[in-house]
Amino acid sequence: MSAPKKIAIIGSGNWGSAIGKIIGKNAANLDQFETQVNMWVFEEMVDGRKLTEIINTDHENVKYLPGHKLPENIVAIPDVVEACMSADIHVWVLPHQFVRGVCQKLKGNIKPDAVALSLIKGLDESQAGVDLISNVINQELGVEVNVLMGANLAKEVANGHFCETTIGCRNEACGQMLKEMVQADYFRVVVVEDATTVEICGALKNIVATGAGFVDGLGMGDNTKAAVIRLGLMEMVKFTETFYQGSQTSTFLESCGIADLVTTCYGGRNRRVAEAFVTSGKTIDELEQEMLNGQKIQGPPTAKEVYHLLKDKKCEDQFPLFVAIYKICYEGMPVKDFIGCLKNHPEHM
Ligand SMILES: NC(=O)c1ccc[n+]([C@@H]2O[C@H](COP(=O)([O-])OP(=O)(O)OC[C@H]3O[C@@H](n4cnc5c(N)ncnc54)[C@H](O)[C@@H]3O)[C@@H](O)[C@H]2O)c1
Repeated sequence: MSAPKKIAIIGSGNWGSAIGKIIGKNAANLDQFETQVNMWVFEEMVDGRKLTEIINTDHENVKYLPGHKLPENIVAIPDVVEACMSADIHVWVLPHQFVRGVCQKLKGNIKPDAVALSLIKGLDESQAGVDLISNVINQELGVEVNVLMGANLAKEVANGHFCETTIGCRNEACGQMLKEMVQADYFRVVVVEDATTVEICGALKNIVATGAGFVDGLGMGDNTKAAVIRLGLMEMVKFTETFYQGSQTSTFLESCGIADLVTTCYGGRNRRVAEAFVTSGKTIDELEQEMLNGQKIQGPPTAKEVYHLLKDKKCEDQFPLFVAIYKICYEGMPVKDFIGCLKNHPEHM
C-alpha cells in the first residue's frame, strides 16, 4: 500500500469549515490519509484572539461556522506555504478573488505531484481574458485540478442534513480517491469525468441566483422565479456549448447542475443580497459589508466577468438574462426592466 496522503485545506470560510468537518473525520478514520489535516486560515483577530488560536484550542471557527465543532485533527495554520508544502492533496475553498494571490505564494513551494480539488465557485478574469479557476491553479502551479460542486449550502452540510454533490475528475482513479476523502453518509458523492461542465455550473448558477433575488425583491413570487431558473439554465447550457466544446449536457442533471441552481435560487446568500439590493436601494458592496460579516458573494462579480467575455466575443444578445443581471448590478439598469428581459427572452436557444 502506498504512503498515506497528506491533506491541506486552503481556506477556512463557511464552506471550508463545513467540508473540513467531513474531511477531518475521514482522515482520522481511513488508512489512505494522514490523520492530521492542515487548514490554511487567513489570520484575523476575533474578540482580541487570533482565529488560528481559537480553532486550535476551541476547535471551532467562531467567525465563519459558529456553533460547530471541527475535528481535533484539523490544524489551523496562518502561513499558506507551511500549510501546503508537504501535502499530497490540496482542497481549494476560498472566494475566487483570492486565488491568484495564493498561487503566487505557493509557486515552487509544493510537491510537484500533488493533486488539487477545487470547491471554488466563480471565474477568473485577467488581462488574458476569462478563465476557469481550475485552469488558473493548473497553469500557476502545474498540479492536476479536479472540482467538487453541488447543492451544498454550507450550513446544511455542517448540520448533517442529507445532500448530494458532484466531483468532476480528470481521471477515474483520482476521482474515487477524492470521493473517499469527502463522502459521508449524509453527503453523497457522484463522480463524473466532465470537470469543465461541473465547474461552469458552479460558477454560473450564482449569476442566476442574483436574478432570483431580484424577482424576490420585486415581490413577484415562485412562478416568476421558476422562469428565471429555467431561462438561466438555458443560458448556462448555451454558454457551455459556445465556449467549452466537448462538455456533456447530462452533467447539468447532476447535483452540480439543476440541483445547485434550485437551492441557490431559494436559499443562498447571492439571492438574499440581491433581494436586499432591490428593497433597500443600497449598493452590492454596502450590502455585502452589512449582511455577510466578512463573507463574499460571487454572483455579481461573476456576472461582470461573463459580461466582459460576451462583449469581447460579440454575443451579448444570445445571453440576455446574464447581461441584464450585470447591467442591473453595475450600470444602473432599473430592476423592473429585468421582467422585460424575461418576457422577451428567445423561445429557443
Ligand atoms: N458557503 C457555501 O454555502 C458554499 C457552498 C459551496 C461552495 N461555496 C464556494 O466556496 C468558496 C469559499 O466560500 P466560503 O463560503 O467558504 O467563504 P466565505 O465567504 O464564508 O469566507 C471568506 C473567506 O475568505 C477569507 N479571506 C478574507 N480575506 C482574505 C484575503 N485577503 N485573502 C485570502 N482569504 C481571505 C476568509 O478568511 C474566509 O475564509 C466560494 O467560491 C464559494 O462560492 C460556498
